[in-house]
Amino acid sequence: MKRFAMSLAALLLVPVFTTQADAAPQTRYDATTQTCRVLSDGPLEWDSRPWGEGGKLFKDVCKGCHTRGNDKGAPFLWTESKTPAGWNRVFETRSPKCAQTGAWKGINLDQQMKLNDYLYRWAANSQDKNDSC
Ligand code: HEC
Repeated sequence: MKRFAMSLAALLLVPVFTTQADAAPQTRYDATTQTCRVLSDGPLEWDSRPWGEGGKLFKDVCKGCHTRGNDKGAPFLWTESKTPAGWNRVFETRSPKCAQTGAWKGINLDQQMKLNDYLYRWAANSQDKNDSC
């Protein structure tokens, strides 16, 4: 009976965990490399967390200018400044002036992917699933 109760409890917990895992984007299509990034497990999941490589790059590189009230003429930016699709567009097109004037120069392609993963994962409306591949 005890064992039955335990398996019943385990069964009831499964949907709880599944729902939680769904409440965030799990995949990101990267147009620059034409690859599917799986953000929901493995190293990419860790890198797309605030303390992972993507989060660190945002803090160390982008936030060097994009802080509130900076004197560099850079608008304040945080993860929720754009939707997941909006961040993808920023990296696909490299349209911001700062990307063209050398402020991103220290970032190699692998790092750009991780930074994009991080911003995509924590973007505005990222509680929606937003899977893109
Ligand atoms: C040396 C300072 C500097 C750094 C470092 C920098 N930026 Fe910028 N960024 C700017 C400035 C200044 C602008 C406004 C340029 C203009 O006049 O359009 C800007 C504009 C932008 C915009 C367009 C504004 C918007 O609201 O859409 C985005 C997006 C952006 N930056 C993203 C980034 C990202 C991502 C990084 C890190 C990889 C980064 N920037 C690093 C200075 C910087």
